[in-house]
Formats: sequence, C-alpha cells, structure tokens
Amino acid sequence: DTQGNTALAPFFFFFSFFNLQVVNGIEIYSMKIDSKITSRFAHNVITSRAVNRGNVHKEVFFDVELPKTAFITNFSMTIDGVTYPGTIKEKEVAKKQYEKAVSKGQTAGLVKASGRKTEKFTVSVNIEAASKVTFELTYEELLKRQFGKYEMFIKVKPKQLVKDFEIEVNIFEPQGITELEAEGTFITNDLQNIIKKTFSDKKGHISFRPTLDQQRTCANCSQSVLDGDFTVRYDVKRTAPDDLQIVNGYFVHFFAPTNLPKLPKNVIFVIDISGSMSGREIQQTREALLKILDDIKEDDFFNFILFGSEVQTWKETLIKATPENLDEARKFVRGIDTAGMTNLHGGIMRGIDMLNAAHERNLVHKRSASIIIMLTDGQPNVGISNTQEIQEHVKKAIEGKYPLYNLGFGYGVDYSFLEKMALENKGLARRIYPDSDAALQLQGFYDEVSNPMLTDIELNYPENEISDLTKNSFKHFYDGSEIVVAGRFIDNNQNHLTVDVRGEDAQQTDKAFQEQEYIFGDYIERLWAYLTIEQLLEKRIAATGEEKENLTAKALDLSLKYKFVTPLTSMVVTKPEDYNNQDGIADKPIEGIDIFKILLYLRSQSFAFTVDGDPHFIISVPQKEDAICFNINENPGAVLNLINDPVTGITVNGELIGDKRANSDAKIQNTYFGKLGIANKHLDLKLTVTPEKITIQNGNEKTGFTWLDSVTLQQEGLTLIINRKKNLVLSMGSSASFVIVLHQVWKKHPLHQDFLGLYTLESDKLSEQTHGLLGQFFHPIDFTILEIHPGSDPKKPDATMIVKNNELTVTRGWQKDYRRDPKHGVDIPCWFVHNNGAGLIDGVHTDYIVSSLF
Ligand SMILES: *[C@@H]1O[C@H](CO)[C@@H](O)[C@H](O)[C@H]1NC(C)=O
Ligand SMILES: *[C@@H]1O[C@H](CO)[C@@H](O)[C@H](O)[C@H]1NC(C)=O
Ligand SMILES: *[C@@H]1O[C@H](CO)[C@@H](O)[C@H](O)[C@H]1NC(C)=O
Repeated sequence: DTQGNTALAPFFFFFSFFNLQVVNGIEIYSMKIDSKITSRFAHNVITSRAVNRGNVHKEVFFDVELPKTAFITNFSMTIDGVTYPGTIKEKEVAKKQYEKAVSKGQTAGLVKASGRKTEKFTVSVNIEAASKVTFELTYEELLKRQFGKYEMFIKVKPKQLVKDFEIEVNIFEPQGITELEAEGTFITNDLQNIIKKTFSDKKGHISFRPTLDQQRTCANCSQSVLDGDFTVRYDVKRTAPDDLQIVNGYFVHFFAPTNLPKLPKNVIFVIDISGSMSGREIQQTREALLKILDDIKEDDFFNFILFGSEVQTWKETLIKATPENLDEARKFVRGIDTAGMTNLHGGIMRGIDMLNAAHERNLVHKRSASIIIMLTDGQPNVGISNTQEIQEHVKKAIEGKYPLYNLGFGYGVDYSFLEKMALENKGLARRIYPDSDAALQLQGFYDEVSNPMLTDIELNYPENEISDLTKNSFKHFYDGSEIVVAGRFIDNNQNHLTVDVRGEDAQQTDKAFQEQEYIFGDYIERLWAYLTIEQLLEKRIAATGEEKENLTAKALDLSLKYKFVTPLTSMVVTKPEDYNNQDGIADKPIEGIDIFKILLYLRSQSFAFTVDGDPHFIISVPQKEDAICFNINENPGAVLNLINDPVTGITVNGELIGDKRANSDAKIQNTYFGKLGIANKHLDLKLTVTPEKITIQNGNEKTGFTWLDSVTLQQEGLTLIINRKKNLVLSMGSSASFVIVLHQVWKKHPLHQDFLGLYTLESDKLSEQTHGLLGQFFHPIDFTILEIHPGSDPKKPDATMIVKNNELTVTRGWQKDYRRDPKHGVDIPCWFVHNNGAGLIDGVHTDYIVSSLF
C-alpha cells in the first residue's frame, strides 16, 4: 500500500463542468464521461486520469465546463491511491475558508468564467514525478424539452490525445424512446461511424470511443480533433399528454399535449433604438425582425414600438398579419434607425397599454396568446429611469395577463433589472451576445415562444395527499416544450394520484395514475429537489426583504441536503499540500508562518532499514521548507493523546501495538498505531478504527464496518467515507477532518502486522487551545539550526537546534516517502529530535499517555 506522507491544507473552489488541460509532461491517459439519464434527469460523471511523466513535480489542471443549468453534486481527487473528497458547504462559510487559504499563500487555482451555455472553472493540483491523479466530477441536470426534443450537450476538449477516451450515455425513459441522435461539432465524416447508437423501447445507448489515431487531426499529428460540443437529442413516446411517474413517495408529472391547434398570438415588439444600438446591433436587430416576420402566421396580430428618447409606434393598434401588412412591416423594419437616448419606461408602457386596449376592445381573438418581447442594449435614462419604479408600473399594468420577455443585448444592460422585471411578469430574460450570430440568437428566442398551444394551464393534485409541490400554474404552453411538476406524497406509501389539468381552451381532464413498475433509485426525489431549488432561486431574484430571506434559507437547506452546488453553496475540497523535501517540490513561495502542516506518520518496519532513525512523527515546517521528526518509544498497549481540542470537543487518541513477537536483538521495540479513537464530545460521537474494522458510536447507537466495505455515510455532524482497503475520510461537524490510512503488510510476514496512519486535514479549523502530541504543533513553530557537524553515523550529520528556547542536539535523518515508489520509497530529509521528542514537545512524552481510547 502507499504511505503518502503529504501534509494537508485546505483548498477550495467553486465550480462547474469539464475538460482537461495539459501541462508539459502530464499525460492524460484516460478520460471518461458517463451519463445516465432517467426520466429526463441526467446524472453525469466525468473521470479523468493523469500521470506526471516528468521527473519533477507538475501542476495538473482540471478545467471544467458545465451547462449553466446543471448543478455539481460531487467532486473528488485521488492522488496515489488516497482520495480527497469534496464537501458541499454554504457559500459564505466556504468563501471565508477560501479567502483564508489564499491569504495564507496557499495556491487555490480558481478561474471563473461564464460563456453562453456554460460556466467554466479551473482547478489545479501539484503532483510529484511519476504520481497519478484522478479527478472525478459529478453533476446533475434536468433536461428541458424544446422544439420536440430533449437535448444534452457535453463539452469536449481534452487538449491532447488520450489513450482511453470514452463518452457513454445510457438513457432510460419509462414512456419509451422514439428517436435518438448524437453528434459532435468536431465530428468529421471519418468519425461519424465511431458513434455507436442504439435504442429500443425504453432504453437508449450511445458510445463514442475514438482510438488515438482517430483523435489525430492528421496522420502522425499529435493534435486532437476532439474540441467542441457533443450533443445527444431524443424524444419520448407520447400516447397521452400526461406521464406521471411515482417512485418512493415522490412523483413527477410530465405534461405535453400534442395535436392541439396552435393558438393565434398577439405579439408586441418593444425595440430599443437608442444611440448605443447604432452600427452592428441595429443592423442585426433589423435582420432578425425580418426573419421573424416571415414566420408570423396570418391569424396573428402584431406591432412594433420603438424607443429612443422618444417613443414611436408603427401602427396605433395591433395589426393582423395579412400578407399586405407583413409587406408594409418589412418596409418599416428596414427603415428602423437609431435615435437619442433610452426611454425604456415609455416604450414598454406604450406596448402594455396597446395590448390592454386590444383586449378590452376585442380587437384580437378571444382565444389567443399575448406576449411582449422587449429588446434593449442599455439602461433607462430618459423619462422614468428609476428601475424599481419602472418595475412597479409594469407589473401593475400587466397584472399577470401576459408574459413579458426581456432580451438584453450586449453587456451594457442592467440585466438583473431586466431579469427581475421579466420574472415578475411570468416571462423570462435572455442575454443576446454581441457576436456575428446575434440575429440568429434573437430569432431563436422568438422560435421558442412563437407557438403557444395553451394558456393559463393549471395542474392540480389532491391537496391533502401532496406536499412540497413545485410550480403548477403556467401562463403558456409552447409547442415542442413540456411542463414538469413534481411533489411529495404526504403518505410515503401512496402509489396512485389523481390529476386535474385545466387550461384555457383545453378541456379539463381528470386522470388517475398508478405507480409504475420500474426501479431507479432516488431519481424522482432528486428531480423534485433540483426543480424545487431551481424555482426557489428564480423566485428569489425578484423577491425582497423577509420573503427573499425565507426563499434563500429554503433553497440553501435543500442544496445542502441534496448536495447541489448552487449559487448559495460551494464545493470545498481539501488539497494535499506539496511535501517539503529537498527535491524542490515545494517551489511555490509560501508566506507567513501560520501555515502549519502536520503529519503523523507511522511506518511499516518491513520497509525500514534502520530502527532507531525512523521517525514516527513528522512535523513539516513550511517556512523553513524543512521538517522535524521524532519518535515516541512506548510499550505496546500504551494509549497516546494525539489531539485534544476543548473548544470543538474533539480528541484523537492512538493505541500502540508491537510486532507479532518481540525482537530480542533490538534495544527498542517497534511500535505502530493499531487502534485509533476519534471522539467529538459535543456531538456525542466516537469512532474506533483498527486494521480490521471501523465502529461508530453515536450516543447509544453503534454501527460497524470493515475495511472491505465501500461506504459513504452522512449523518448529522458526521461524514465518513471508507475507500475499501485503503483509507477512510472523516469529518465531524464543521471542524477538522481526518484521513486514516490502512497499511497492510504481507499476511504471512513473520514479524509485522497491519497498522494505521493518521493525517489531519484543515487543522486550522481546530481552536487555538488544541493540544496533544500532535495537536500542539497546529500552532506556528519556528526553529534555527546551528553548527552542523559530523555525527556518529557518517551519513547523518548532527546539529544544534534552537526551538522553544531549548538547545537540542538533532540528527539529520530520513523519512521514506512511499507515494512515488510504494515498494522502495523515496528519502525525505528531516531533523530528528532524540529522546521521545524531549525539548520539542511540551512537557515530557509520558504526559500524553492516557488510560483509554476515550
Ligand atoms: C463522491 O465521489 C466519491 C469518489 O468517487 C465517492 O466515493 C463518493 O461516494 C461520492 N459521494 C456521493 C455523495 O455520491
Ligand atoms: C508517419 O510516420 C511514419 C513513421 O515515421 C512514416 O513512415 C509515415 O510516412 C508518416 N506518415 C505521414 C502521413 O506523414
Ligand atoms: C418567513 O418565514 C417565517 C418563519 O417560517 C414566517 O413566519 C414568515 O411568515 C415568512 N415570511 C414571508 C414573507 O414569507
């Protein structure tokens, strides 16, 4: 097994999705994207494995790009067999820790950028020569139906050839799958047939595994063609408008009627023509409006309102889209030009008044859907320019009668104002990116809302049976989309539900559903949580005061409970800090003396060559780029107090074991930790770890595991992850975490037995009052080395160390680092303090002997 002796320090990032960047010497030898979609809910895992082929340490970047609508749910790094898991924390808490880490000079590779469809963050970790690192990222997303299809895209950009590259998508849709497509923007004709695609009835499968040669941009080239979006699209069978799925006390209702006649629509375009739109923007707007005019149906009504400093209208009222009127409109659109400042209030209010008047005077069809689409690139500065006041006026004038869609062109807009105003009025806001395809973006948005089929849809469920219902009333239903409502049964065992669907001009339906016979874990529950959080966050945008606080609290609570990285939470990952050895591994400047990395390290004698020179305790002193080590020689059976923090209530004690039989030749017997006891007094938690088993005692409740288990246990105040036969990671409350490594020796070894190693993570979370053989070194320590001179062993010089006002004779020793080379290890130098750490530790070592593990 590996014996990593990395000291560990906190490291944080806030991030989203995928692709891996390569630094010289780093080989990504495997990259897998595994996607499981069940009932539109996608669970994606990206695993990337890299090895440092160079002969010095290197930084590996995990550069991720994630759909904006996705939430990360897990992340971990595994370095040389030790896994460092991520945990989800409240953003403010995580941020404070992050800032603290940064102020301490620890590297925290954080890059945040937002693209059109994706969010990108970068994370890096320094790994040693010949070391391997595995990144594993999980994210989840509810796929939305648009234009008759569900679409999922995966950003692919490995930036180098990858020996083992694979995308695998498995879809399970209880309704049945009717079509399935997969394409990549980077896929050439040669690559097309590498995409394997099959589907039958409820299951769909896609795999894409290009060989190294197939990844090359040309024969013998080392550049990769894999750079772009990989998109999967599919649709489900619909024998009825409704599909209701009930699993484990949760339900989700998908509603998408087909074969309804399209409703005529009444569209008011409110267009900003202020000076800032001049040039390309106004030209793209004209271009988009002309295309949109081609799509307007004869039954539709429409009009244009333009606002610069003044407000102009094309016609005084809404006009029917007859061919003649459309022709006239085209002429008008071609003539649109910029003028003056931004009287947004005047423009939008004129539009609303016009639509209201049209309804009042029955100018438009009674059975029709009205929408207002506003496009602006600036901020209101003529007429009423106070955005809050505009919001109030608009809300009052619309009264929930029509959705307002706000399109923000470019980056000069007050997008949050546009978003709030749209959400308050049952619409949504969209950014139009100022690129060459801006006209297409505008037109694309229009396409989404151009085919209303129903208005004022309400899906009702028996109130006494359901709780925690997501949004269940919708202004419009557009062709090719889908309405999704999820909820929880009050009675967990209920397996049927009656639904009442109402829609303006749709006949009322009243249906009963029975639970279906398929099993897919907690998908429906997570889908419900995802949808609930998404809607709470959206509501929060337009909310104020106590309502906003309540929405925030609820969304935060669910994000933490279901482990979603949302705008309110962050993923916190503990990054192993570089070990300070003389190979220059830690070449980053480390400032300040308060970064204190501690490591308790017990060695298997089967790897050791000398007995008395082998330290058990190593204390790394970063500002010296050096380490101190010492041994505690006590008899097997002795229990040592390692950490004791009266403030957080955490104690860690370790019991020593010896070899299978005493070595009569040795002056000092080898000892190891054979049992560790970690307790949190405040939480009434006790964890006992031996090389055989792991026992948790929570009050009077006892739970046991063995090292053959793979476990992730999360309960109040405790997170425990057991990585089978390797290590376990334990966090208690918001305090420090520990990694316990299992060292297994050869079963038939005549002398040695299995033992444990302990690592402390985030030791800065323990209080100032922390003490113990190990805990006392969580506070800064400094030392000076003087008079290096030959010692009794010619290879190991002695020196005088000044530490804690004591003058000690120390010996240059070596500590083996087994991470790079698990068999032979690599020598890491340290100053060895003799006599059980006398002069270095507070008091004498026997002060730390306690009567029992707890
Ligand atoms: C997170 O990922 C790690 C590494 O694969 C895994 O061991 C752990 O179980 C995952 N946690 C959750 C909550 O799924
Ligand atoms: C690729 O490399 C091999 C070996 O160096 C060489 O024989 C071959 O001609 C090269 N092919 C191309 C297309 O350059
Ligand atoms: C916020 O939550 C509290 C406590 O649940 C409740 O009493 C209060 O009415 C809520 N306020 C609003 C505005 O929803």
